[in-house]
Amino acid sequence: MGIAVRDLARHYGNVHAIDGISFDIADGEFVSLLGPSGCGKTTTLRCIAGLEDPTGGTISVDGRMVSAPAQGLLVPTHERRLGMVFQSYAVWPHMTVRQNVGFPLSVRGAAAGDIARQVDEALRVVGMAHLAERHPSQLSGGQQQRVALARAIVGSPRVLLFDEPLSNLDAKLREGMRGEIRRIQKRLGVGAVYVTHDREEALSMSDRVIVMNQGRIAQVGTPRDLYRRPNSRFVADFVGKVGLIELSRDEAGWRTADGTQIRANAGRADGAQALGAVRPENIRLQTGHGAATEGLNHLTGRIAEAQYLGPFTEYVVEAAGVTLRSYAQADLEPGAEVTLAIAPDDIVLLPAE
Ligand SMILES: Nc1ncnc2c1ncn2[C@@H]1O[C@H](COP(=O)(O)OP(=O)(O)OP(=O)(O)O)[C@@H](O)[C@H]1O
Ligand SMILES: [Mg+2]
Repeated sequence: MGIAVRDLARHYGNVHAIDGISFDIADGEFVSLLGPSGCGKTTTLRCIAGLEDPTGGTISVDGRMVSAPAQGLLVPTHERRLGMVFQSYAVWPHMTVRQNVGFPLSVRGAAAGDIARQVDEALRVVGMAHLAERHPSQLSGGQQQRVALARAIVGSPRVLLFDEPLSNLDAKLREGMRGEIRRIQKRLGVGAVYVTHDREEALSMSDRVIVMNQGRIAQVGTPRDLYRRPNSRFVADFVGKVGLIELSRDEAGWRTADGTQIRANAGRADGAQALGAVRPENIRLQTGHGAATEGLNHLTGRIAEAQYLGPFTEYVVEAAGVTLRSYAQADLEPGAEVTLAIAPDDIVLLPAE
């Protein structure tokens, strides 16, 4: 049954931290809240957790209404059956790993035998059974994060909530933990809400991503949808690098500022102006007098910068009056004249704003 959020609002005076958002998360579904600093991600998560009182809307968890301020209904956090993991692991230094993980159960008054059994299981799931008697100061950052994860899953939660849980870990460990969190969540079969401002994390981990901007939802979709078919400049820009070509429409179709005709098959724009959004990996660079490839758009340009990154070189190219980025394997020098070839399916029309 997951989570159902309807018209959720959290206003602080005239600061609208969340401004009427609605979404559903199914059982077993992993959904990220992605957006820039201050867009309302943490506030949304804290409202679901019951750590923050919403000023409007409703939230139900697992089919049970837990928050409806208009009716004066606010179910306390410990009755919502949630598992939570935060950026600061918040493991207690004076307790062993075993005591940390068992803490939520002992607060609830569970019997000692039950606690021991459930703690053992949770520690086994996160691969920490062999370190159960250590104190947090004797653990690495990644191991401490696993303790926090074990503590979140220990009482058979109905939903898991994460707020930037990996941002204190180094890049390598972070990538490993992404996969582990997914594996554990799938195994428990519960819904998860994962707050992050890291687009790679959101794209790589999620079934769906909710992109937020200024307290509202900008777009919801699968990672592929959002990356390939953004519906606004904001989303196009937030989920990855993107080139934006200013276009205007005449009888023949779309043209760039320098008059080059452009065919774009994706997205939509209603007025006479639009932006054509294109990802760097979809811009092919051609040099010399190579034949134009039939069916592709061609722009002429000049390489302004080149940054060799190993698997490819990131080129900054001035073309059609705009600056575009292209990932290419060819070795080209700044100053080189190039033709940019782009398939019509890879140009997404967006409202010009
Ligand atoms: N107690 C408060 N009083 C007034 N404004 C607040 C309060 N708490 C949060 N806000 C504001 O609400 C907005 C959303 O904050 P929130 O913490 O949800 O952002 P966020 O998306 O989690 O950002 P970050 O990525 O930086 O963690 C911000 O503009 C913030 O300044
Ligand atoms: Mg936050």
